[in-house]
Amino acid sequence: MSEVLAGIGNGAVGAYNVILLEHAEAIAGAAADTGIPVVLQLSQNAIRYHGSLAPIVRACQALAEASPTPVVVHLDHIDDEELIAEGLELGVDSVMFDGSALDYADNVSATARVVERCHDAGCWVEAELGEVGGKDGVHAPNVRTDPDDAARFVTDTGVDALAVAVGSSHAMAERTAALDDELIAELAASAGVPLVLHGSSGVPDDGLVSAVRHGIRKVNIGTMLNQLLTEQARVVLGDNPRLSDPRKYLRPGRDAIRAEVARISTLIGPHAG
Ligand code: G3H
Ligand code: ZN
Repeated sequence: MSEVLAGIGNGAVGAYNVILLEHAEAIAGAAADTGIPVVLQLSQNAIRYHGSLAPIVRACQALAEASPTPVVVHLDHIDDEELIAEGLELGVDSVMFDGSALDYADNVSATARVVERCHDAGCWVEAELGEVGGKDGVHAPNVRTDPDDAARFVTDTGVDALAVAVGSSHAMAERTAALDDELIAELAASAGVPLVLHGSSGVPDDGLVSAVRHGIRKVNIGTMLNQLLTEQARVVLGDNPRLSDPRKYLRPGRDAIRAEVARISTLIGPHAG
């Protein structure tokens, strides 16, 4: 991850959520199309959906190995430390430990423990301070990460990147979130590590570009990709009610994700800063 972020300069890397193999193929395809690196990220929820970590992680790693452009394999929003241990065994590049629902002291101690374990294995660690809402359907757009707390948290835990609450919320169906750019700039100055924006599907294009200009270095996108996949499938199935071959209704969505990931990666990438 550090090489990818170094190469992206004052831009940000797009980190895209993988649920199905089709997501991963589309995202890696967009990296090949643009020459801009991407992060394939697997959330704890998506891993639970599959029932185990190895099949979907190995599929992502195979795509990364075959890619002409760097592709990072990252575990996202993990609060189960055993799952992190399994990910390290499999050789994931990066992990986001999510202790954001814990109080400050418990978040620090759990995150520091994960950092030590991951760094021993050469794995990058992201953590979250100030809970970005929406994961449980409850949006809390007014939650903010305090810049002094951010500096203290990074020092106390040794994390490599910090997810911050600056006005976005997970799983927004409309791109209407307004971000606090001044706070992003303050956090970038105080935290001393790359900042991560979660819930980026709800942020309009100009908000994403502005957030990157103010210091966001990793932009997490999930919901937007699922909207594309499902919209395309709905159209195809609506037009062909007797269709049964999943390739027929998944292919258009996979193509749509590939095009949108290429567009977003270009928007926020090396030239955005
Ligand atoms: O960690 C994943 C992201 O924060 C995705 O959020 O589904 O709202 O784009 P989103
Ligand atoms: Zn997130």
